Amino acid sequence: MLRRSTSPGNAPCVVALVTVGAAPAGYTRAVNASGPVSGGRQRGMDTMDRLLHLIGVRGTPTLGRGQERVDPNEPRIAHEMVDAIKQVSLDRHPTGVVKRFNQGKSLACLEADFHVPDDLPDDLRRGLFALPGHYHAKIRFANASTDDDRRKDLRGMSIMVHDVPGDFPWGEPGIQSFLLNSEPALFAGTPERFLAFVEATRAGRPWQFFVDPRHVDSLRAVMRGRKTIASPLDIRYWSTTPFRYGDDESVAVKFSVRPTSPVRTERASSGPDRLSEAIAEHLRQGPASFDFMVQFQDDPARMPIENASIVWNESRAPFRTVARITIENQDFRSREALAECERMTFSPWQSLAEHRPLGGINRVRKAVYAELGRFRNAENDSRLDAVEASPGGLSDRGAHAGAAT
Ligand code: HEM
Repeated sequence: MLRRSTSPGNAPCVVALVTVGAAPAGYTRAVNASGPVSGGRQRGMDTMDRLLHLIGVRGTPTLGRGQERVDPNEPRIAHEMVDAIKQVSLDRHPTGVVKRFNQGKSLACLEADFHVPDDLPDDLRRGLFALPGHYHAKIRFANASTDDDRRKDLRGMSIMVHDVPGDFPWGEPGIQSFLLNSEPALFAGTPERFLAFVEATRAGRPWQFFVDPRHVDSLRAVMRGRKTIASPLDIRYWSTTPFRYGDDESVAVKFSVRPTSPVRTERASSGPDRLSEAIAEHLRQGPASFDFMVQFQDDPARMPIENASIVWNESRAPFRTVARITIENQDFRSREALAECERMTFSPWQSLAEHRPLGGINRVRKAVYAELGRFRNAENDSRLDAVEASPGGLSDRGAHAGAAT
């Protein structure tokens, strides 16, 4: 089932920036004002940009590189998301383990080495990547919405890098997290759009969101992104949302991870836990490896910060490798390892200041992940002992109409 490969996979207004009280520290929003713009390059809006923006091909045209535009409705949207997701989680899991709303089925939680090489060019030496070194990391692979590995789905890769020096304003000191999934774009690029999806899910009719003619592009994105795969160790992952890279407020990047292992899974086994099995088999044959990469924002209209459904073109701005991930063989399917895996909570805001999450989707995720992680663990503390561990995770079988992130 495994094959060895020799070549690894390779109104035109002036905006000013103000700090917003309701938003996280350091946040800015664009407001009508006169005066210079700091923290990014100001860009005029020509007729073509305006047209492309209206049909959703381009981002908010008046923003410069690295700039954000905060919608004052975001705190309300985040609050409504938290309420709705808690409700959906309890409805889906009245007994047994309360799974994550997204990325519910753990395929594996693995120890890894995260290596920042000593030959990075100067412009890549920022934040976590400023100094060379080996870091201990934990990585969780997951299915976005199904408990049956044979079904089409998106897959997630969550990375927690430990003992990182530096300033962590929003979370636990020393831990840098990256959350990625197997599509380069998010099916719902703005907080309002994502809330509409969550509300439809709460009503038990997620399809209603996708058949709404205003959401045709979301439907297309989900159809394109859901795939069957042979192994989570052989596919690419993307952050889909942007992040800062260093202290310069005009710099934004997206992250991606590309598999580089010489071992590849050609054909998975036939069972519902076949992706966990493929990981175990791969690791028995040899280590798994990935390149961790960054893509710099170039043109803010074509590579927007405030719309995560727009892919940043890779031919225009290629991803560049800043670290290498290696995963050695290990036992990740013991009952203790599975229970520990279920307790892990990741957040894009568990981050160095130099890699601050950017854009509306990331801003609302701050409250959502913190609240949902606490809620899930509090529920599960009283439930975990009552649940049987299964090879594919602490699983109560059956697909749910989950989110596609
Ligand atoms: C507004 C948009 C989003 C919302 C409301 C949302 C919501 C959630 C929630 C509630 C969880 C479970 C948290 C927990 O119980 O601990 C989760 C997990 C996750 N999300 Fe999102 N998400 C959003 C966008 C994204 C994006 C853009 C990505 C990345 C491409 C992403 C990737 C993931 C991953 C990988 C996990 C699993 C984390 C883990 O391993 O524990 N999500 N999301």
